[in-house]
Amino acid sequence: MEYVLETNNLEKRYGKFKAISNLNIHIEKGSIYGLIGKNGAGKTTLIRIICGLQRPSNGNYSIYGIKNTSNQIGNARKRMGAIIETPSICMDMTAEDNLKEQYKIIGMPSFEGVNEILKLVGLNNSRGKKIKKFSLGMKQRLGIAIALARKSRLSYLRRTHKWTRSRRNYRYKRAYIKAK
Ligand SMILES: Nc1ncnc2c1ncn2[C@@H]1O[C@H](COP(=O)(O)OP(=O)(O)OP(=O)(O)O)[C@@H](O)[C@H]1O
Ligand SMILES: [Mg+2]
Repeated sequence: MEYVLETNNLEKRYGKFKAISNLNIHIEKGSIYGLIGKNGAGKTTLIRIICGLQRPSNGNYSIYGIKNTSNQIGNARKRMGAIIETPSICMDMTAEDNLKEQYKIIGMPSFEGVNEILKLVGLNNSRGKKIKKFSLGMKQRLGIAIALARKSRLSYLRRTHKWTRSRRNYRYKRAYIKAK
Protein backbone atom coordinates (compact mmCIF):
# COMPACT_ATOMS: atom_id res chain seq x y z
CA MET A 1 0.00 0.00 0.00
CA GLU A 2 1.30 3.45 -0.91
CA TYR A 3 0.86 6.13 1.72
CA VAL A 4 1.08 9.88 1.23
CA LEU A 5 1.46 10.28 4.99
CA GLU A 6 2.47 7.78 7.61
CA THR A 7 3.28 8.42 11.27
CA ASN A 8 4.96 5.93 13.58
CA ASN A 9 4.49 6.35 17.33
CA LEU A 10 4.61 10.09 16.86
CA GLU A 11 4.86 12.07 20.06
CA LYS A 12 5.03 15.78 20.82
CA ARG A 13 5.75 17.07 24.31
CA TYR A 14 5.69 20.63 25.58
CA GLY A 15 7.74 20.22 28.74
CA LYS A 16 6.04 17.37 30.58
CA PHE A 17 2.76 17.84 28.72
CA LYS A 18 2.08 15.40 25.89
CA ALA A 19 0.17 17.13 23.11
CA ILE A 20 0.49 14.05 20.84
CA SER A 21 1.06 10.57 22.18
CA ASN A 22 1.93 7.45 20.12
CA LEU A 23 0.12 8.54 17.00
CA ASN A 24 0.02 6.03 14.15
CA ILE A 25 -1.85 7.13 11.06
CA HIS A 26 -1.65 5.87 7.49
CA ILE A 27 -3.18 7.98 4.73
CA GLU A 28 -3.47 6.18 1.42
CA LYS A 29 -2.75 7.76 -1.91
CA GLY A 30 -5.94 9.18 -3.45
CA SER A 31 -7.93 9.18 -0.22
CA ILE A 32 -9.69 11.96 1.67
CA TYR A 33 -8.90 11.77 5.38
CA GLY A 34 -10.73 13.68 8.09
CA LEU A 35 -8.94 14.37 11.37
CA ILE A 36 -11.53 14.88 14.09
CA GLY A 37 -10.74 15.67 17.72
CA LYS A 38 -11.89 17.92 20.52
CA ASN A 39 -10.23 21.29 21.17
CA GLY A 40 -6.64 20.74 22.28
CA ALA A 41 -6.53 17.17 20.94
CA GLY A 42 -3.38 17.93 18.91
CA LYS A 43 -4.67 18.32 15.35
CA THR A 44 -2.89 21.61 14.63
CA THR A 45 0.25 20.34 16.34
CA LEU A 46 0.28 17.37 13.96
CA ILE A 47 -0.13 19.56 10.88
CA ARG A 48 2.61 21.89 12.12
CA ILE A 49 4.95 18.92 12.55
CA ILE A 50 4.20 17.59 9.06
CA CYS A 51 4.87 21.04 7.59
CA GLY A 52 8.24 21.12 9.36
CA LEU A 53 7.31 24.01 11.67
CA GLN A 54 7.81 21.85 14.78
CA ARG A 55 9.86 18.76 15.50
CA PRO A 56 8.45 15.56 16.98
CA SER A 57 9.72 14.71 20.48
CA ASN A 58 9.65 10.99 19.61
CA GLY A 59 8.63 8.75 16.75
CA ASN A 60 8.77 9.68 13.09
CA TYR A 61 6.71 10.27 9.98
CA SER A 62 7.01 9.90 6.22
CA ILE A 63 5.60 12.02 3.42
CA TYR A 64 5.28 10.17 0.09
CA GLY A 65 7.46 7.47 1.64
CA ILE A 66 10.26 9.89 2.56
CA LYS A 67 11.17 9.90 6.23
CA ASN A 68 11.30 13.14 8.18
CA THR A 69 14.95 12.45 8.99
CA SER A 70 15.91 12.19 5.29
CA ASN A 71 17.60 15.12 3.59
CA GLN A 72 14.94 14.72 0.86
CA ILE A 73 12.06 15.65 3.15
CA GLY A 74 12.08 19.24 1.82
CA ASN A 75 11.41 17.92 -1.69
CA ALA A 76 8.54 15.78 -0.39
CA ARG A 77 7.04 18.88 1.25
CA LYS A 78 7.13 20.71 -2.08
CA ARG A 79 4.48 18.23 -3.20
CA MET A 80 2.06 19.16 -0.44
CA GLY A 81 -0.02 22.21 0.38
CA ALA A 82 -1.40 23.19 3.77
CA ILE A 83 -3.50 25.79 5.50
CA ILE A 84 -2.90 26.02 9.23
CA GLU A 85 -5.95 27.53 10.92
CA THR A 86 -6.43 30.59 8.69
CA PRO A 87 -4.94 31.14 5.24
CA SER A 88 -2.33 33.88 4.79
CA ILE A 89 -4.09 36.19 2.39
CA CYS A 90 -3.96 39.88 1.66
CA MET A 91 -7.29 41.55 2.43
CA ASP A 92 -6.79 44.43 -0.01
CA MET A 93 -6.19 42.15 -2.97
CA THR A 94 -8.58 40.11 -5.10
CA ALA A 95 -8.80 36.32 -4.99
CA GLU A 96 -7.07 36.09 -8.34
CA ASP A 97 -4.19 38.37 -7.30
CA ASN A 98 -3.73 36.49 -4.02
CA LEU A 99 -3.42 33.25 -5.92
CA LYS A 100 -0.99 34.82 -8.39
CA GLU A 101 1.14 36.03 -5.46
CA GLN A 102 1.27 32.45 -4.21
CA TYR A 103 2.38 31.31 -7.66
CA LYS A 104 5.28 33.78 -7.46
CA ILE A 105 6.21 32.66 -3.95
CA ILE A 106 6.47 29.00 -4.96
CA GLY A 107 8.41 29.88 -8.11
CA MET A 108 5.89 29.08 -10.85
CA PRO A 109 7.17 30.33 -14.21
CA SER A 110 3.70 31.47 -15.39
CA PHE A 111 0.16 31.95 -14.09
CA GLU A 112 -1.11 28.97 -16.03
CA GLY A 113 -3.60 26.99 -13.94
CA VAL A 114 -4.93 29.96 -11.94
CA ASN A 115 -8.28 29.88 -13.77
CA GLU A 116 -8.69 26.14 -13.25
CA ILE A 117 -7.99 26.36 -9.53
CA LEU A 118 -10.41 29.27 -9.04
CA LYS A 119 -13.09 27.30 -10.89
CA LEU A 120 -12.36 24.18 -8.90
CA VAL A 121 -12.87 25.91 -5.54
CA GLY A 122 -15.98 27.75 -6.79
CA LEU A 123 -14.51 31.25 -6.75
CA ASN A 124 -14.48 31.93 -10.45
CA ASN A 125 -17.36 34.42 -10.24
CA SER A 126 -15.78 36.23 -7.26
CA ARG A 127 -12.23 36.28 -8.61
CA GLY A 128 -12.17 40.08 -8.95
CA LYS A 129 -13.62 40.85 -5.51
CA LYS A 130 -11.35 42.09 -2.71
CA ILE A 131 -10.94 39.62 0.12
CA LYS A 132 -12.16 42.10 2.71
CA LYS A 133 -15.55 41.69 1.05
CA PHE A 134 -15.38 37.88 1.21
CA SER A 135 -17.40 35.74 3.60
CA LEU A 136 -15.51 33.35 5.92
CA GLY A 137 -16.34 30.38 3.69
CA MET A 138 -15.08 32.22 0.63
CA LYS A 139 -11.79 32.99 2.42
CA GLN A 140 -11.46 29.34 3.30
CA ARG A 141 -12.07 28.38 -0.32
CA LEU A 142 -9.28 30.75 -1.33
CA GLY A 143 -7.06 29.07 1.29
CA ILE A 144 -7.71 25.74 -0.40
CA ALA A 145 -6.91 27.31 -3.78
CA ILE A 146 -3.59 28.56 -2.38
CA ALA A 147 -2.80 25.12 -0.96
CA LEU A 148 -3.61 23.57 -4.37
CA ALA A 149 -1.18 25.88 -6.15
CA ARG A 150 1.60 23.44 -5.28
CA LYS A 151 -0.24 20.64 -7.03
CA SER A 152 -0.39 22.89 -10.03
CA ARG A 153 3.38 23.31 -9.73
CA LEU A 154 3.85 19.56 -9.72
CA SER A 155 1.55 19.25 -12.66
CA TYR A 156 3.41 22.02 -14.46
CA LEU A 157 6.73 20.26 -14.01
CA ARG A 158 5.25 17.06 -15.35
CA ARG A 159 3.86 18.87 -18.35
CA THR A 160 7.35 19.63 -19.57
CA HIS A 161 7.32 16.07 -20.95
CA LYS A 162 6.40 15.52 -24.59
CA TRP A 163 2.69 14.89 -24.20
CA THR A 164 -0.03 15.92 -26.59
CA ARG A 165 -2.13 18.88 -25.49
CA SER A 166 -5.26 16.80 -24.78
CA ARG A 167 -3.28 14.30 -22.74
CA ARG A 168 -1.67 17.12 -20.78
CA ASN A 169 -5.02 18.73 -20.05
CA TYR A 170 -6.39 15.42 -18.84
CA ARG A 171 -3.39 14.96 -16.56
CA TYR A 172 -3.68 18.54 -15.37
CA LYS A 173 -7.30 18.17 -14.28
CA ARG A 174 -6.61 14.91 -12.54
CA ALA A 175 -3.85 16.50 -10.48
CA TYR A 176 -6.33 18.55 -8.52
CA ILE A 177 -8.59 15.79 -7.40
CA LYS A 178 -6.21 12.95 -6.70
CA ALA A 179 -3.54 12.93 -4.04
CA LYS A 180 -0.37 12.04 -5.92
N1 LIG B 1 3.39 26.19 21.88
C1 LIG B 1 2.77 25.47 22.81
N2 LIG B 1 3.25 25.37 24.06
C2 LIG B 1 2.64 24.61 24.98
N3 LIG B 1 1.53 23.90 24.75
C3 LIG B 1 1.00 23.96 23.52
C4 LIG B 1 1.58 24.73 22.48
N4 LIG B 1 0.85 24.58 21.36
C5 LIG B 1 -0.15 23.77 21.69
N5 LIG B 1 -0.07 23.38 22.97
C6 LIG B 1 -0.99 22.47 23.67
O1 LIG B 1 -1.02 21.26 22.91
C7 LIG B 1 -2.35 20.76 22.88
C8 LIG B 1 -2.75 20.55 21.44
O2 LIG B 1 -2.95 21.82 20.81
P1 LIG B 1 -3.45 21.93 19.30
O3 LIG B 1 -3.39 23.37 18.96
O4 LIG B 1 -2.67 21.00 18.47
O5 LIG B 1 -4.95 21.41 19.44
P2 LIG B 1 -6.07 21.28 18.31
O6 LIG B 1 -6.49 19.85 18.25
O7 LIG B 1 -5.63 21.90 17.06
O8 LIG B 1 -7.25 22.13 18.97
P3 LIG B 1 -8.40 23.05 18.29
O9 LIG B 1 -9.51 22.13 17.89
O10 LIG B 1 -8.82 23.93 19.40
O11 LIG B 1 -7.79 23.80 17.16
C9 LIG B 1 -3.22 21.72 23.67
O12 LIG B 1 -3.40 21.22 24.96
C10 LIG B 1 -2.40 23.01 23.69
O13 LIG B 1 -2.63 23.74 24.90
MG1 LIG C 1 -6.30 23.50 15.90
